[in-house]
Amino acid sequence: MPFRLPAIPILALALTVSSHVLADPAPFLPPSNEAKVEAVLAQLTLEEKVALLHGSALFYSAGVPRLGIEEMAYTDGPLGVREEVSRDSWAAAGWTNDEATYFPSGTALAATWNPERVRECGAAMGREARARGKDILLAPAINVIRSPLCGRNYEYFSEEPALIAPLATAFIQGVQSTGVASCVKHFAVNNQETNRGTIDAQVSQRALREVYLRAFEAAVRDGQVAAVMGAYNHVNGLYACENPQLLNDILKEEWGFRGIVVSDWAATHSTVASARAGLDVEMGTVADFDAYFFAQPLIDAVKAGELEESVVDEMARRVLRVMAALGKLDSTTTRPQGEINTPRHSQIIREAASEAIVLLQNQGGQLPLDPAKLKTVAVIGDNAICPHAQGGFGASVKAAYEVTPLEGLRAALGPDVEIRHARGYQPQYLRGGPNDTRNVWELPVDQTPDPELFAEALEAAKGADLVIFIGGDDRNVESEAADRRTIALPFGQDALVSALAEVNPNLVTVVIAGAAVDLRTVRDRSAAVVWGWFNGAESGNALADVLCGKVNPSGKLPFTLPATLDQLGAHAVDAFPGNDEIVRYEEELFVGYRWLDAHALTPTFPFGFGLSYTTFTLSAPRLEGNHVRVTLRNTGERAGAETVQVYASFPGSTLDRPVRQLVGFRKVFLEAGTSAEVDIPLPDRNLASYDKESGQLVVQPGEYTLAIGTSSRSLPLQLVYQRH
Ligand code: BGC
Repeated sequence: MPFRLPAIPILALALTVSSHVLADPAPFLPPSNEAKVEAVLAQLTLEEKVALLHGSALFYSAGVPRLGIEEMAYTDGPLGVREEVSRDSWAAAGWTNDEATYFPSGTALAATWNPERVRECGAAMGREARARGKDILLAPAINVIRSPLCGRNYEYFSEEPALIAPLATAFIQGVQSTGVASCVKHFAVNNQETNRGTIDAQVSQRALREVYLRAFEAAVRDGQVAAVMGAYNHVNGLYACENPQLLNDILKEEWGFRGIVVSDWAATHSTVASARAGLDVEMGTVADFDAYFFAQPLIDAVKAGELEESVVDEMARRVLRVMAALGKLDSTTTRPQGEINTPRHSQIIREAASEAIVLLQNQGGQLPLDPAKLKTVAVIGDNAICPHAQGGFGASVKAAYEVTPLEGLRAALGPDVEIRHARGYQPQYLRGGPNDTRNVWELPVDQTPDPELFAEALEAAKGADLVIFIGGDDRNVESEAADRRTIALPFGQDALVSALAEVNPNLVTVVIAGAAVDLRTVRDRSAAVVWGWFNGAESGNALADVLCGKVNPSGKLPFTLPATLDQLGAHAVDAFPGNDEIVRYEEELFVGYRWLDAHALTPTFPFGFGLSYTTFTLSAPRLEGNHVRVTLRNTGERAGAETVQVYASFPGSTLDRPVRQLVGFRKVFLEAGTSAEVDIPLPDRNLASYDKESGQLVVQPGEYTLAIGTSSRSLPLQLVYQRH
């Protein structure tokens, strides 16, 4: 059949998603508001200015009642708009209208490798925040995944800044298109929960700039984020919230950030030093709001001559600037009303969730399932029925609903397929009753599954046409305020998977988790392996869409699935989580796959990896300026999407550099049998390295090798890229 050359590229182009085209160039904090801001500022007393600069409730800071300026309302993301807590304690406020959409978590969104999808989710979350009357959404969370053990990895995006940056930018732009300010967090180098309130993250300037600050820089410069949350930890000797290098020099001076720096809740430790360092707003966790460092003590410091009032003016100016952008200074500006729990949002999260799912293995074309050929399916595992909108410690969503995998599968497989569910294992934690103040959902040493549940699961699996094991972590295993101790699958799941495979080799394993786990046993014993994430309220439907082939999977791993922890730099050099006081980032730039590449190690599944129900080929790579162009062809029988990835090496570099690192990517959807020329820009920021002399990120001239492919370990094409 001759190939219809003219028609197909047009179709393909129309469906191409860009990873680097930034919509909405209008500044979120426009200079045209400055006169209004100054006019308000000039009218304020010292007390009124200071009132803008600290929490007046757990999630509010004051406005100026005398001038009719309303208070600023904050809410947590990034899983969705948090349930309402009381003004002066963490107890639920007891609202009946604070249900919200539970969105796919950070790593799930990142697995789409699709900025447009992420932008759509950001906008939907923004609309929900608006509908709840909120001004500032505390999302996205974009810290680099340095170790799989970090308890908050599921909130974050990736181990690779070149992936985090465009996704964070898109999310922020989405949020801020709805009349809500986005607050990107946690600035900076907050890559663990162990001792997070005190630990000193000691990191070289080079790793800081090239790895840990890069996505924040994009959030500010490209995303025009209105607020930045200062982290709990120290960075190179100083608390992040009183660190002039981070806040004044880099964020405000160098990147031109004009918005507000808000402390993480109770991350402020001083009045004058923090104000001088560039912190603007102190938020906290306890109710003595007038005693906050940025409350009465700030007034006292000015009155005592310890701090110039001009410093307070600048802090207040920034708050007013954000208020102006939100229309809070101006009763004539109408703000969007937003919407919450709407069918449109359910549709958005279902599409995002199904696009996030990663097909890791598919032996013998076990997937997609054909319901017509199935009579009995055994669905095993606690995660088949376990909701994930809430759990552990930290931001949760009071989800309006959550479709579990079992419910999604029942709906998709229909009444003619008999589904037998058995839990197989039961999550167990050491945390005691309500008086146990530990934040840690520690796991018992003995991980032997409950023998009765185990036997029941094997019984259900025997003789079924298919076994779908749905395991992984839960939101207690992965939790804020605690790091995991191990990447082993909890609750004896490896033993269960092995036993299930013995009784029924038609085994599909679905891993529901937000961070890497050891999948060696699962990989070796399952015919197919699917990664399903903490994937939002439509997670069960999205999973069924992929398993049954309604959606062709296109997710790619945003982090490495290592065989063992020591395949990752921070663990190989024994630099996680540090001692009680200090964690030294001795692995330098060698985060994630970069360490495995440098040491020729084989992960269980590599960064950037993910299969499809169709097949793709790449050919004819060429360079056009700083764009890679390559032909992608869908050689299979189904429509599907592939993410073309470009990694750069710089053999001639005078610096110690990663063997290769991601410098560009683009996801493209293609109908079966069609092809398209894919355009992948290589932003200078991704090629740049830190120059000690000038203290700047510069692109070194010379010959770069570009490797092009569909995962960090499948790079069939090469180009030489000459930089002058
Ligand atoms: C977290 C932040 C969160 C804040 C308010 C802190 O413990 O680190 O991410 O936004 O609490 O809930």
